[in-house]
Amino acid sequence: MKPQILEAIAKALVADGKGILAADETAGTLTKRFERLKIPSTPESRREYRELLFTTAGSPDFISGVIMYDETIHQRNSRGIPLSDILLEQGIIPGIKVDTGAKPLAGAQGETVTEGLDGLRDRLREYRALGARFAKWRAVFRVTDRLPSQVCISANAHALGRFAALCQEQDIVPIVEPEVLMEGNHTIGRCSEVTANVLHSVFNALYEHNVLLEGMLLKPNMILSGSTCQTQASRMEVAGATLRCLLSHVPAVVPGVVFLSGGQSDVMATKHLDVISRISTSKPWKITFSYGRALQDQALATWLGNENNYRPAQQAYYHRAKCNAAAVLGRYDATMDSRFTGESTSAHDSDS
Ligand code: G3H
Repeated sequence: MKPQILEAIAKALVADGKGILAADETAGTLTKRFERLKIPSTPESRREYRELLFTTAGSPDFISGVIMYDETIHQRNSRGIPLSDILLEQGIIPGIKVDTGAKPLAGAQGETVTEGLDGLRDRLREYRALGARFAKWRAVFRVTDRLPSQVCISANAHALGRFAALCQEQDIVPIVEPEVLMEGNHTIGRCSEVTANVLHSVFNALYEHNVLLEGMLLKPNMILSGSTCQTQASRMEVAGATLRCLLSHVPAVVPGVVFLSGGQSDVMATKHLDVISRISTSKPWKITFSYGRALQDQALATWLGNENNYRPAQQAYYHRAKCNAAAVLGRYDATMDSRFTGESTSAHDSDS
């Protein structure tokens, strides 16, 4: 493990005004998203879609890194250039999702543990040779009055610790993603309580596995009301609760907190990030986005697998990345969205 290398990569991923594109949906998940929009899902159509995102002109101004899926990191464009090289050429750091998904956790009804540790050392070596400099592992926690159980929290925290240590051994920056799900009727207070417990266990596991906290990033959920909770917290309440929870549980030496969007609408994810950034409380870590759906939804719905929609889809992605980059600096303004029509002729100046 080379601490300077890990620290430099982690810092570059949270460079001022930039964030991460999570384009790491498995073939199965992306197929479901394609099917909803009647887009045929083949390795070729998935490659075309990822290439659309990766080659969007101007996006490197706002995107520091991209998390890929195994299929994508092995793919090449029509001229034979690996997609990870396309990112590198633009100064975007290639990353990779290395977990193999959340599987039912024996002894814990309705809960999951994320798998993928078997053979991980060899896979990380291979991914590094393919250009990956950071890797992501997502643990999932369902919230009810009695869930998540302690065994679910401990099993997932342990796996995150092992994942992070293995990554650092290979000079790959781990993005540790413990996601407390938004689905459910729980209050924002319950989300805060659960997230606090989860973060406590996760950092305990990272410590036990000798993970260099300066060479990792945390990818948490924001503290939100459950999606079907009768009372939805305001943006200020979300931002305040999120910062309080993170300040109590995330060590100051961690270089960055990169939020997931977790099913929030794209505009809401931007607005929440913006309010969090605007709060003047001193924050020891950089704060930015590592959004999947909230960066891609509009682009995918615009593209629809149709070549004629290629540039408008890139404009939609560029626009969302720009809005989130503004939010990271606390400079998002709702008029950025109301002005955007997607009809501009250049992805560069679509809403400038
Ligand atoms: O694992 C989930 C992704 O990395 C983030 O996706 O922003 O759609 O929640 P999301």
